[in-house]
Amino acid sequence: MIEAPKGTRDVLPDEIGRWQFVEECARETFERYAFREIRTPIFESTELFARGIGEGSDIVAKEMYTFHDRKGRSVTLRPENTAPVARAFIEHQMHRAPGLQRMYYIGPMFRYERPQKGRMRQFHQIGVEVFGSDHPAVDAETLEMLMAFLGRLGLDDAELALNSVGDPVCRPVYRKALLAYLEPRRDTLCEDCRRRMADNPLRCFDCKVEADRAVMARAPAITDYLCAACREHFGRVTEYLRAYGIRHRLDPRLVRGLDYYRRTSFEVTLQGLGAQNALLGGGRYDGLIKELGGPEVPGFGFAVGEERLVMSLPAAAAVSRGTPEIFIATVDERGVERALLVARALRRVGRRVVFDPLPDKSLRAQLRRANDLQVRFVLILGETEVRERAVTIKRMSDGSQETIAEDRVGARLAEMAGA
Ligand code: HAM
Repeated sequence: MIEAPKGTRDVLPDEIGRWQFVEECARETFERYAFREIRTPIFESTELFARGIGEGSDIVAKEMYTFHDRKGRSVTLRPENTAPVARAFIEHQMHRAPGLQRMYYIGPMFRYERPQKGRMRQFHQIGVEVFGSDHPAVDAETLEMLMAFLGRLGLDDAELALNSVGDPVCRPVYRKALLAYLEPRRDTLCEDCRRRMADNPLRCFDCKVEADRAVMARAPAITDYLCAACREHFGRVTEYLRAYGIRHRLDPRLVRGLDYYRRTSFEVTLQGLGAQNALLGGGRYDGLIKELGGPEVPGFGFAVGEERLVMSLPAAAAVSRGTPEIFIATVDERGVERALLVARALRRVGRRVVFDPLPDKSLRAQLRRANDLQVRFVLILGETEVRERAVTIKRMSDGSQETIAEDRVGARLAEMAGA
């Protein structure tokens, strides 16, 4: 038997309702804030990620699905979508449009990671990016939108942790201080952290090794090294959040695994998610567009892991949508053509109708099936009904039945459904 590749999985019709629910809620929420959808390719040139996310990052160093196409070009399945959206922004000269550009996306991402609960090789993100202003109000409003989105999904225990990771003025100073702290402890650190010390020592904060975490917990914090402009920016972000009444925790040791972040960076965690408890992450990336060859345009965004989101939905949100409301039962071949036509007429007026052409099945078996499908009505096309161009409507909630002319079915169902 051929199975889905390791680290991927099928989202089956029984669970798709939850996915559609979060996606619809995302679209509906984001559009209230003037975000519009963008769809970029699933693969991009490898260079985009190497330059955008950073050569030294774990993602670029060891997690990318990279291959050569038939012409020998190196391409990569997107491990994230901020760099691709920034690439599209530059390519389509969106900076020429007046005002801010706000975009959102929903789609698959690919990282070669060791699969475990909530960690996949193909996973999905719901993300947003705002280009064109470094005003702290952009950070605050986008965070407010995010918390409103999570609130609408019923995730009230989501915890927002926030930090500023500085900018090219203050980060080098901090980096030096951090290295001065780490050097004497080098031998106690894991191999990954020793590599991180050379590439980007801030990443040591991401280390999952217990002993290293203890070392990092006592390391100097970037917040003590921020330059005046970064401190001012971060102060304003948190002021706005307070004005909104949005609960948040300042975490001076929160750094993220991608190189493009500047100033604000954040994560939202949920208790129920276990070891992979980051539901989402994001931040400001004011240097990215320039780094990718575009103009000096600041940016801010976040991406939510959709698998983790769907997994965390409260049970009450176990929505089932698109399920049929009407089942058509026939007793012999003559009923089939009528069934096809009645079903079409009802679908034309927006009804969700199921007709399973298995006329050998007894009426009783068909009613059982209708019951399993939890439809509201069954239309029975028996011998008499077919002969008289009539239909019997059975209301499943109370078992009541009535027989009416076929051309009145739509109107009668509308009355009954409204009642
Ligand atoms: P990230 O933190 O790498 O950020 O990913 C964001 C979220 O994607 C994570 O918090 C997690 O929920 C989900 N995620 C990441 N890897 C996996 C995986 N292997 N399996 C399941 N879920 C996963 C970014 O990707 C940035 N582009 C976010 C951003 C947008 N920053 C600014 N704008």
